[in-house]
This record gives sequence, C-alpha cells and structure tokens, in this order.
Amino acid sequence: MTSALLHPFSKPSSNNYHTLVRSEGVRVWDDKGNEYIDGLGSLWYCQVGHNRPELIQAITSQLQTLSSYHTFAPMGSNISDAAAERIRSISPFADGRVFLCNSGSESVDSAIKLIRKTAILRGEPERQIILRRGRGYHGVNVGGTTLQGIPANREGWGDLLPSVLEIDPTNIESAASIFKEHGNKIAGVITEAVQGAGGVFPPPDGFLEGLRKLCDDNGALLVFDEVITGFGRTGNWFAADTYNITPDLITFAKGVTSGYQPMGGVLISREICDLLEADPQFVFMHGYTYSGHPAACAAAIANIDLIESEELVQRANHVGVRISQGLEALRDDGLLSEVRGVGAIWAGQVTAATTEQGIQIRDKMTEMGVICRAINGALAFCPPLIIEDSDTDLLIDTAAKAINEIMSV
Ligand SMILES: Cc1ncc(COP(=O)(O)O)c(C=O)c1O
Repeated sequence: MTSALLHPFSKPSSNNYHTLVRSEGVRVWDDKGNEYIDGLGSLWYCQVGHNRPELIQAITSQLQTLSSYHTFAPMGSNISDAAAERIRSISPFADGRVFLCNSGSESVDSAIKLIRKTAILRGEPERQIILRRGRGYHGVNVGGTTLQGIPANREGWGDLLPSVLEIDPTNIESAASIFKEHGNKIAGVITEAVQGAGGVFPPPDGFLEGLRKLCDDNGALLVFDEVITGFGRTGNWFAADTYNITPDLITFAKGVTSGYQPMGGVLISREICDLLEADPQFVFMHGYTYSGHPAACAAAIANIDLIESEELVQRANHVGVRISQGLEALRDDGLLSEVRGVGAIWAGQVTAATTEQGIQIRDKMTEMGVICRAINGALAFCPPLIIEDSDTDLLIDTAAKAINEIMSV
C-alpha cells in the first residue's frame, strides 16, 4: 500500500521517501537516524536555519495571545498591521502597501489579478495580455501554472488562462517584438529577477533594464516574482535592490518566514495603491481566509528581526563567494561546465550530465548526507544563510565525489 500522503511533484505510484523527523541549524535527520546538511534551505526558503528558538517563541506567544483571526473588512489585528509595516520597511516601496496570503502560488495569482485590475482602473480594460518568460517558475495555482515557462509544469492540465504570451528567457529582442505587435494590449510582464526552479539563471546584462523600459514605454506593469530571491538571498533584502530596478509589484513568500509558518504576499507600489484608493466606493474583492494569519505574521516579524540582527543579508554574499569558489574549482577540474548564481543561490551544470544523471548525482549526495536539488543536469544550492564555511565546503566536496562516482560509471 502506498502512504496516505500524495506528495507534491511526485510519482503517485512511488513509496520511496526520506522521512524526516528532526531539524536543527543547517541539519535535518530522518527516521533511520541519518543526518543531512540542508544545502537547499528546505525548498529555497530557510534563511535563518531550522529550529531557531527566537521564531518558535514568537509564534508560540502569538498563539497564546491572539491565536487566529481573519483580516477581511472590517476586521484586522495588531500583529497583521505590524507584519505588513515590517515587510514594507525593508522593501523598495517605502510608501506602498502589502497584501498578505499563504504561499508563493497565491502571491502570483494575486499579482495577476492586480495587473488586470490596474489596467481596468486606468480605463484600459482591453489590456489583458500578460507576458511570461521562458524557463520561469511561478507556482502551481491556475494563474501561475499559465505563467510557467517550464512546459512540463504547464502542460497536461487542460485549458489555462487566455491572453498569456511568452518571451525568450535571455533575448530582450523577443520581448521587444511582442511589445511592438501587442503593446497597447499588454497589461504586464512577470519574471523572476533570478530564475530559480528553472535552474538558477541570473538575468543577462541589461535584460531587466530592457523589460523595465519596454513596460514604461508601453504602459505595462513589471512584476518581479521574488518568492525565492526576497529576504536576503541575493545579498540585498530584494533582488530589485541587487539589480537596481524598481518593478511595480513584487511577489514574495518562502524567506519571509524562513518557512516557520506559511506566508506569501504582494508588495504594491504607491502608484498602484493610489489607483486602488482613488474611489472610496471601490472594493478590492480578493483575499484569503488566512491572509495576515497571526502566527504567520509573528513568524515574519521575528524572522526579519533575526535576519537583521545576525546580518544575514550581508552574509549571503560571504556564503555565495564560498559556494561559487568551490563550484569554480570543480569547473577547473572539468566536473562542471558552467557555474551560475548570485548572492547565496548557485548552481553547477555537471559536464555532459543528462537530467537522469543529475538525479542520480543528487541521490548519491543524499546518501552521503547532503541535500541539494537536481535541475536538468545541474546541481542547485541555496543553503540557510547561517551555514558555516566547513559545511559549505562539505556541500562542494560531496558534490565532487558524487559527480565522479556517477559520471565515471
Ligand atoms: C519564483 C517562484 N514563484 C512562486 C513559487 C510558488 O511558491 P509556493 O510553492 O509557495 O506556492 C515558487 C516556488 O518555488 C517560486 O520559486
């Protein structure tokens, strides 16, 4: 019998899982007592490391004070106000606002609705088209599935959203020619600043600047999906700061709580807030039962405080230099053909590895006590920002051993 749990992104017929039972710092343990270094921060999210008492305490005491309450009008809570304020305070939108939800997928679908609503409020309801970027990952709700630039994630679900077109992931000319043809029908463009789940691809020089200009010239919104890159991962609070481009909306999740509670959200620029606030009769008919959940809000505040007090945003660069130098050494040895990344998110493309061989290398590394992610023959690393150099080196050494073992067979 298979287990009752249907795992995400799994083969439903498989029963082959590592059953984790405990975590601490950068390590997790399974039910057989095996220890692993968490080279991916769980799923690209655990900035502060596991089982931090500061977060557990903040969540516990919040649950003891106001355990749960919704924030649909006319209700609110001191903790949801405080979390939104704290998130805004580190964002590029000092005078913007924060919409809260429970996941990256919900943040993306919320952004889609905000893109369309903006066009309507501007008196341009004919602007319906949203541009996605090849290789992009934007979650699994129906909107985000439509915006996937990874065909395997997008296909096989029947009809998705209409009015979505795809731009090339690296060639800005492809975006320019779509704008040339459809400019006055395009409501917005969504892109990860650094493509993560597609294989860790920082933007080509000038690409994000090019998108910003095309959007400005054509009256479209630019959305950065910072679900992975937000909250310090790229060496600034947001990748928008790292690349010095200001989008109109920023989606976030993951690192906002380091995963201690589910939370996502959308940062909304003042210009769009002005549109939403202009008509006192206008009602924003969107929100989730758990938008601004007290436990998640307490986790977000404590997490941001901890990232700040331990200077983990700056530390992302230290961690990243260590990882990239390690990966570059593997490239010098011929084990890797390409090294990609920024801040503390990196990937090494294993020389001549197929997708299947990448998975075999990942499995071998897991057997050796290191967790990473295999994507199209590349190994991705996105560890907690508290990782010590000796553990970073273990990630790289284990990758080298596993590559040698699998690729020489
Ligand atoms: C850029 C990006 N957007 C959206 C999502 C979806 O987030 P979630 O899995 O929390 O729904 C992810 C998840 O990896 C992501 O990387």
